[in-house]
Amino acid sequence: MNEYYFAPVYDFLLQPFIHQLRRSVVAMVLKHKSEKVIDMCCGTGHQLKYLENAGIKSVGVDLNDLMIRQAGRNNSKDLCNKGDARSTNYPDNHFDMALTSLSLHEMPYQNAREIIQEMIRVVKPDGQLMIIDYDFTEHSSNLMKSGMKMIEYFVGGKHYRNFRKYIKLGQMQSLVQDFNLNPTETRYFYGNTIALRIYSKT
Ligand SMILES: C[S@@+](CC[C@H](N)C(=O)[O-])C[C@H]1O[C@@H](n2cnc3c(N)ncnc32)[C@H](O)[C@@H]1O
Repeated sequence: MNEYYFAPVYDFLLQPFIHQLRRSVVAMVLKHKSEKVIDMCCGTGHQLKYLENAGIKSVGVDLNDLMIRQAGRNNSKDLCNKGDARSTNYPDNHFDMALTSLSLHEMPYQNAREIIQEMIRVVKPDGQLMIIDYDFTEHSSNLMKSGMKMIEYFVGGKHYRNFRKYIKLGQMQSLVQDFNLNPTETRYFYGNTIALRIYSKT
């Protein structure tokens, strides 16, 4: 069974909760005046639609056929292309911003690091990376944290195993360490359980 068997209902289930986060991503891209944006692991292309609607030129890559097929149904097929975010065909220093949302926690740790490496490669020297993912801290709501853990548990399988490893190994901070990235801004969502963090390359 394809691990994204739930792709047809992904946006339907998430939309009521994720609208504010999607809008914040757009606001952040506009704030940084990023004109060319890549969404690594774009899934159903939902975030790309928000960016497109705001007039921001963006493309995405995703590996999963069912998510890509759903992107087609969402009219975001031309935005979200099939590809491995660890190694895209884009030239060096091509984008003003590379983002990835809600993806890194659920993949093998080494894949997540390779995707960050690729984001660094395709972003201009004065560009930004935007990573949105779990960031449990002492300020996180325990209730929300339990809710998020329960969602990951129900998704199950290797997603859940990778999520547990992501948390155990130190989450976003641990993933980006060694890359010489500079965190410049963070916003928290969902009871301070999910962070949207901007990193500059310089
Ligand atoms: C939970 S979904 C998040 C989708 C989207 N970013 C969002 O915000 O809704 C995680 C996505 O990561 C994709 N993915 C995992 N590893 C990948 C890789 N190496 N290259 C491209 N996409 C990948 C999966 O196919 C899936 O669509």
